[in-house]
Amino acid sequence: METVTLNTGIKFPIIGSGTNTFGKVDHAYQGEINGDTTEILMAIDAGYRHFDTAISYRNESVVGKALGESKKARNEFFITSKIPGKQEYYADKEAVKKGVKQSLQALNTAYIDLYLIHHPWDNLVQMLSMWQVLEDYVDQGKLKAIGVSNFNEKELGYLIENGRIKPAVNQVESHPRNWNDVIINYSLAQEVVPEAWGPLTRVSDQAKEKLSEIGAKYNKTWAQVILRYQIERGVVVIPKSHNQKRQEQNLEIFDFKLSDEDKQFISAQ
Ligand SMILES: NC(=O)c1ccc[n+]([C@@H]2O[C@H](COP(=O)([O-])OP(=O)(O)OC[C@H]3O[C@@H](n4cnc5c(N)ncnc54)[C@H](OP(=O)(O)O)[C@@H]3O)[C@@H](O)[C@H]2O)c1
Repeated sequence: METVTLNTGIKFPIIGSGTNTFGKVDHAYQGEINGDTTEILMAIDAGYRHFDTAISYRNESVVGKALGESKKARNEFFITSKIPGKQEYYADKEAVKKGVKQSLQALNTAYIDLYLIHHPWDNLVQMLSMWQVLEDYVDQGKLKAIGVSNFNEKELGYLIENGRIKPAVNQVESHPRNWNDVIINYSLAQEVVPEAWGPLTRVSDQAKEKLSEIGAKYNKTWAQVILRYQIERGVVVIPKSHNQKRQEQNLEIFDFKLSDEDKQFISAQ
């Protein structure tokens, strides 16, 4: 598995699996948790070792259960989780600690590889205060790396300037029609690894058609073209599929290289 190196020196698998509808009735985001580990075990079988969950997804316990069922060592996996940018979790230092403890317990693990603030809110000072608690957990070894999600330049810049530990990752929405180049390029320039959420959603039929034409040159699908484009520009991807074949396809992106001309075309989609 290819990796990128975080500014902490930790190796971060360049592709992981999203999980936000796994372990839920009808695979509905808001669905009741049913503890079903099928898709995660399928993904582990396919070769995924990096999983992206969050307190808000309510399925950290399903991810933890699947890791146990896999019988693989904890250090074979890279697990990301996220603490909500909600008052309930940032009201004071105890509220932040409650969130981290909740994640560690639900994932049934002694440490989390990467822990993100899920969304920014309109108070930079409060965000820094949450960040400082996360920094303490890094010191204790319970969080190996910390980062943010959905942060713009101002919000990320504030933490870079005022935090003791620099954010390692900024996970943002990125896909055709909304590549989010400004924040991705800013993150790269700051040595904060950008990570694309929703890499395969909201892709129009028209874009799929055009990207399939590019893919045909390499014997790849539109989805593989998108994922390859992202990793070639240093963006980590976390596609999610409930289908074994598509999970496998999403990993088959390391045996071709897009031409500069094709990358230019893709960036315009
Ligand atoms: N930080 C944040 O605020 C945030 C927000 C949203 C999501 N996320 C994270 O990002 C992850 C990924 O985003 P996402 O789950 O919204 O969507 P996604 O991975 O972009 O797309 C998922 C959809 O694409 C389909 N798909 C997957 N692989 C495919 C392929 N090779 N060919 C054709 N279709 C394919 C899946 O259908 P099938 O299942 O039928 O294959 C599913 O409907 C989430 O699971 C979550 O972990 C983070």
